[in-house]
Amino acid sequence: MTLRVLFVGAGAVNFGGTIGPWDHSRRLEELGGVQVVAIADPDLPKARGVLQLKLTGGAAEMYKGCLVVADYLEAIQTTKPQVAFIGKFSHPPIGQEGRWHGFLT
Ligand SMILES: NC(=O)c1ccc[n+]([C@@H]2O[C@H](COP(=O)([O-])OP(=O)(O)OC[C@H]3O[C@@H](n4cnc5c(N)ncnc54)[C@H](O)[C@@H]3O)[C@@H](O)[C@H]2O)c1
Repeated sequence: MTLRVLFVGAGAVNFGGTIGPWDHSRRLEELGGVQVVAIADPDLPKARGVLQLKLTGGAAEMYKGCLVVADYLEAIQTTKPQVAFIGKFSHPPIGQEGRWHGFLT
């Protein structure tokens, strides 16, 4: 079975960064059995950038046909994912106070 995955947020927790070891996409690539059907992020250039990197990497097959959109509701309606990894803040960061686990459902 192949799981259809949506990433909400093209930032560090989903695609790696300098804050911590989190990088959901890389972990899913290691597990396999996953097709990433969409990346939703209002910062479209950033989302397109992470997808482009994935499409030129070793797990490119997992991202083939992946949709990039600003609105996660559009991503859900269009691509019908079975699971979503939510990597966005629940509120605007105020200094570093935005670094909360505020919107992980
Ligand atoms: N970075 C980590 O290692 C880490 C670890 C555990 C939990 N978290 C939590 O994950 C969440 C995201 O953290 P991050 O470090 O990835 O932040 P980040 O700033 O690197 O990325 C957040 C992304 O969310 C996007 N975004 C904003 N509004 C959006 C929306 N409505 N729909 C889709 N995308 C939207 C932003 O454009 C940005 O690209 C936070 O709640 C954080 O506390 C992060």
